Amino acid sequence: MDTNIYIKDVTFIITETEEESVERELKASFSQNILAGLMASPKKLQSKYFYDAAGDRLFQDIMQAPEYYLTNCEMEIFSEQTKEIVKTLTACFNSFDLIELGAGDATKSVFLLKELLAQKVDFTYLPIDISTNVIEQLLYKLPKQLPGLQMHGLNGDYFDMLKEASRLSGRPKVVLFMGSNIGNMPVKEAFVFCVELRKALSPGDLAIIGFDLKKNPKTILAAYNDAAGITKNFNLNLLKRINRELDADFNLDQFDHYPLYDPQTGACKSFLVSLVQQEIRIGSTKIMFEENEWIDMEVSQKYNLEEIDQMAFSGGFEPVRHFFDAKKWFVDAVWKCV
Ligand code: AVI
Repeated sequence: MDTNIYIKDVTFIITETEEESVERELKASFSQNILAGLMASPKKLQSKYFYDAAGDRLFQDIMQAPEYYLTNCEMEIFSEQTKEIVKTLTACFNSFDLIELGAGDATKSVFLLKELLAQKVDFTYLPIDISTNVIEQLLYKLPKQLPGLQMHGLNGDYFDMLKEASRLSGRPKVVLFMGSNIGNMPVKEAFVFCVELRKALSPGDLAIIGFDLKKNPKTILAAYNDAAGITKNFNLNLLKRINRELDADFNLDQFDHYPLYDPQTGACKSFLVSLVQQEIRIGSTKIMFEENEWIDMEVSQKYNLEEIDQMAFSGGFEPVRHFFDAKKWFVDAVWKCV
């Protein structure tokens, strides 16, 4: 007797969590951008990819390096001129949202948060960071460290999260963008960034932006060429990351770090130079390097005050105040949206 066996069609629907889908998209764009950059001429990698877990640790080490003055200068501004900064903010608003772009561990902004709380200013702190981990750490740590702090963490892209911040409250906004992070954009991109920032804000809102100032070229170059070789490893770490995440075979010993500072343009640039002619494999893609061919890794742009004010005006802001460290090596510029 024939037996018919019917097997029911069973479809398994495995739904991805939002976090998993963000991670998948980030991985896809990492792979695309790295391959496109290494197939371009000249070869280029984006420094935003320096910051995997090992890159974060190396950057912490850079900030401790004796040659890297930027962190200490801005720390000095935020720890010693906190009252003046608060005065500048409270002269404009009774209550506001304090939004920090790329909050990291908020070490410098904590000084400002403490003083705002001490003066009983009505504000909410909204740290924005692309890293879920950073936001989770801040949400865990800050309320303990700063009792009474009103806080709302925003995890995602700066401009998406600025829109979210506007949806959350109609209060005036103060945006902090510290640490000379703006310096990691080429000048034209920094101008466009300021225009976009202005579009995300309303007239009267404030921005406080940290810029590293032009100074003795040797001082600048040393900050990106530390004797212990941390900055070199910071750059090489991106090749390590590509090996691990994209199944590549970079031999780190066959690349050297070459930093340079051009006092005329204010661009401090980092390159990795191939020491030999070599072929690299990334997945199934082969990339050729000539001997001495370089990869453009990072720009850390330095500005003077005139250039900074010009950036404010062309972005639709007006400069309100400049907070300098004692050596005038760094400035936190306060801009108002016009
Ligand atoms: C994060 N950024 C502001 C640092 C800088 O100074 O451009 C990154 C860095 N690159 C090398 N050293 C530090």
